[in-house]
Amino acid sequence: MIEIDNVHKSFGNLDVVKGVSLTVNKGEVVSIIGGSGSGKSTLLMCINGLEPIQKGSIRVDGVEVHHHATDLNRLRQKIGIVFQQWNAFPHLTVLENVMLAPRKVLGKSTAEAEELAVQQLTHVGLGDKLKVFPGKLSGGQQQRMAIARALAMSPDYMLFDEATSALDPQLVGEVLDTMRMLAEDGMTMVLVTHEIRFARDVSDRVAFFRNGLVHEIGSPDQVIGSPVHAETADFLKSVR
Ligand SMILES: Nc1ncnc2c1ncn2[C@@H]1O[C@H](COP(=O)(O)OP(=O)(O)OP(=O)(O)O)[C@@H](O)[C@H]1O
Ligand SMILES: [Mg+2]
Repeated sequence: MIEIDNVHKSFGNLDVVKGVSLTVNKGEVVSIIGGSGSGKSTLLMCINGLEPIQKGSIRVDGVEVHHHATDLNRLRQKIGIVFQQWNAFPHLTVLENVMLAPRKVLGKSTAEAEELAVQQLTHVGLGDKLKVFPGKLSGGQQQRMAIARALAMSPDYMLFDEATSALDPQLVGEVLDTMRMLAEDGMTMVLVTHEIRFARDVSDRVAFFRNGLVHEIGSPDQVIGSPVHAETADFLKSVR
């Protein structure tokens, strides 16, 4: 479980996250929507300790992310993260790219890492691309490779930050389908997305971010279907 409690985050004197509280339960899918600059990506970075916070706390399975004694490398092993784009190593095959972290970080043998990588690449529909170089993949295939790479670490949580926003429209669907499959498998997920219809479909809860705060949160049908706040409605109108 991820427990975010009154988190404040600033860059210099720019306050970006201004007191966010949010709990993500095991098996839950929570989508974060909101305008540009509202602090969505920053919050994800704080969840896996890529950015320090100024106030509040974030606990993952009870472990304080920003405590000085916390082993961040260990913590990050259970949190997979997929960004807009992931730059794979161009001189390594798809399979080798996905094998890398299990070998280097988890200390798996080559055979074990290969088994894990093949399994996850097959799971995301890239079983026939193992020996291909990343440059030969479509954008959608590259994003699915990024998902397989994260999954090969056997994470308990997956964070997605606009995983489809750099893709041509016709490639978005295949990546969303992969994310939907993960959600259906019971993965605990936090998704920053502007695919509103998808968020409504797969999420247990949707949080609308505004100005560094959770402005509105609730079931997808409530937040997206009948928002309480005018700002939420305005945002939804602007992205439709
Ligand atoms: N490393 C950084 N240094 C300084 N300012 C930053 C840094 N990262 C983000 N910011 C600022 O923090 C604010 C929030 O950024 P963030 O990336 O979290 O927004 P976002 O909600 O993800 O927006 P978008 O929808 O455009 O991705 C922005 O004003 C941004 O310029
Ligand atoms: Mg962002």
